[in-house]
Order: sequence, then structure tokens, then C-alpha cells
Amino acid sequence: MKIMMVCLGNICRSPLAEGILQHKINKLGLDWEVASSGTAGYHVGALPDSRSMEVAQRNGVDISYQRSQQFNPSQLDEYDFILAMDIQNYEDILSYCATEKQRQKVQLIMDYGDDPNVQEVPDPYYGGQDGFTNVYDMLNEATEGFLQTMILAMD
Ligand code: 4NP
Repeated sequence: MKIMMVCLGNICRSPLAEGILQHKINKLGLDWEVASSGTAGYHVGALPDSRSMEVAQRNGVDISYQRSQQFNPSQLDEYDFILAMDIQNYEDILSYCATEKQRQKVQLIMDYGDDPNVQEVPDPYYGGQDGFTNVYDMLNEATEGFLQTMILAMD
């Protein structure tokens, strides 16, 4: 199984989503692959934001191997799930879909969270470290929900 996490810049939210989910998958011994990308290309080639690397490291998750890439519509066929951080990212990715099969792969990551009223992971770029701690906690919850949903579906 291949999962793509998508945000705007691929330096704050989706690198954390990738790192947290890959860490959980590796602990379970599954061979699933997680990647991430941004709908915008401003930061292509860049390391994750230092605030994302800091909160990840504090929680035992290494994301320093990651480099920002822009979402490419060919990834709609390459990946099984495309999980968007917010509604703008979700709509931008949907606009690239040509088939119903592609559209069904595109979902909001927070649809796997515990609170049905929470749809979006807020963009933490212009705030302080607290915003990144909040993003980490939200993504830890939602990636756990995604993993449990996938494992139940495999039984
Ligand atoms: P991300 O956060 O989409 O979570 O990676 C952002 C990163 C950079 C910018 C905006 C959001 N930016 O405008 O450069």
C-alpha cells in the first residue's frame, strides 16, 4: 500500500503526517510506503521546517531525511490514498482527477480523527512552536485512526 500526504508547502504539516504514519507502520512490521508533497512548489528540495523537525524528534520520530516535493498528478495513479491536510489542498488535488477511481483516493486526513467536527489541520507556518505541537497531536490521532481503519478492512 502507498499513501501520499499533501499540504501546501510540504515543509510543515505533510512531512509530519508522513513521518508519524511511517513510524507507526514500521513498528507494526508492515511494508507500506508513505510519502508527502505540496500543492505549491515554493519549497521544492527544502528540509522540513525546523519546528516540524523539533516536535517530531521530541516524540521519537525522525523526519530529517525528507525533502519537499510538489504534488504531481501522476501520483493519483501511483498511490492508493492521497490524504489532504485542509479543504483547499483537497479541492486542488480533486481538480487534477480525471476518473472516479482517482477521486475516491482523495480524502481529508482529519476524516480519520476522533472528532467529526474537525476537518482541517491548521497551517502552522506563521505561528510559533505551539501550533506545531497542536499539528503533531492532531496528526498522531488521525494517522492512528487511518491505520486502525486499514487494519480492520484487511481482516
Ligand atoms: P505547509 O505550511 O503547507 O504545512 O507545509 C506552509 C509552508 C509554507 C508556506 C505556507 C504554508 N508558505 O507560504 O511558504
